[in-house]
Amino acid sequence: MMLRFLSAIVFVGLLLSGCTTQGAREDGAAKAMHAYLAGMPKAELHLHLEGTLSPETIVRITQRNGLDYFTTVEEVKQSLTSRPPGLMGFLDHHFKSQEVMQTRQDFYDATYQLAEKLADNNIVYADVFFDPQAHTTRGVTFTDMFEGIDTGRVDAEAAFGVTINLIMCIQRERSVESALEMLDQAFPFRPRIIGLGMDSGPEYGNPPVKFRAVYSRAREEGYFLTGHHDVDVRDSIKHIWQSLDVIGMNRIDHGLNASDDAELTKELARRGICLTGSPVMRSTDPAPQDVDRIRTLDSAGVCISLNSDDPEEFESGYLTNMLILFQEASDYSKADMTRLMLNAFNSIWEPAAETNAYVAELKNYAAAHDVAWGEVMYADHSELGAE
Ligand code: ADE
Ligand code: ZN
Repeated sequence: MMLRFLSAIVFVGLLLSGCTTQGAREDGAAKAMHAYLAGMPKAELHLHLEGTLSPETIVRITQRNGLDYFTTVEEVKQSLTSRPPGLMGFLDHHFKSQEVMQTRQDFYDATYQLAEKLADNNIVYADVFFDPQAHTTRGVTFTDMFEGIDTGRVDAEAAFGVTINLIMCIQRERSVESALEMLDQAFPFRPRIIGLGMDSGPEYGNPPVKFRAVYSRAREEGYFLTGHHDVDVRDSIKHIWQSLDVIGMNRIDHGLNASDDAELTKELARRGICLTGSPVMRSTDPAPQDVDRIRTLDSAGVCISLNSDDPEEFESGYLTNMLILFQEASDYSKADMTRLMLNAFNSIWEPAAETNAYVAELKNYAAAHDVAWGEVMYADHSELGAE
């Protein structure tokens, strides 16, 4: 009896120590993955300046400008957490918070502080969206807004060693005339703005073709072209086709609904048009969203990257944290995560020599962490019959 009791204790002890070893191993693997993702040289291509204002920054600017709302951090946080679900609810808060920016200095500070965050996340290259119409329509001059942003960019590049390009966005709910006027205002600054994008909403009723003339003129003026196709918007697939075939966009922002359409998925892969994905990662959701769509697109050979979009307004935060959340939800390997980052570097609109230098940096990083480049490049496209 005593012997049986003792062996039971030994058995349970062995079991527990096995669990602890297993748990410790898992813990160690997770830590190693987090460290790998944190240290990885990164590019971020879908990031709105107006979505990077921290509650503290909003309050500081509010006080500086003598405004009577968002006077405390709690007030900003309350507005963030109480917003209605969906794109329009999100935009409600987004518009209100960006209105605190009024002077050249406000735009400078926002850009400089963003670059500091980029550096913290080991982001070596970023495309940053800004929405001129949201500011000029409330009396800020294009020049003040733009010079504030651009001087912040130049100073931040020197201070933090991050390269930033600027993409000016059309607000799609506004008129074509207003978008053309924005192009006029931007003309003197054109060499310092790399691309024309389109954001805001609602998207349904404001399709890409509405701005055909604007995009056409922008292309003639030398802008690269992109635009938002938010997830699960009515007619999203139709809008993506328009952006490819009518507008001739160089990149597609979001666009994850393409995974629902095998023909579109195949075409994106064939044309090598890159998507800037931004998966929704909220702790309150029963299951992580968008992961399966990204996996489908990735395994079909579509160039898709992961981006933080509005890091101060989304729970997933800045890019390192977003990558960690995505990896945990997808169980992607280090090689897979590296492939998504390679896609980001391959999506940028810099000359080939710059892109190659970034890719070489990523490749060296992977090699230093025993990640085989062959596995990074590997993707099984057989499922959708891509050639
Ligand atoms: N403005 C900022 N983020 C946006 C998004 N994800 N979709 C549309 N407009 C936006
Ligand atoms: Zn966006």
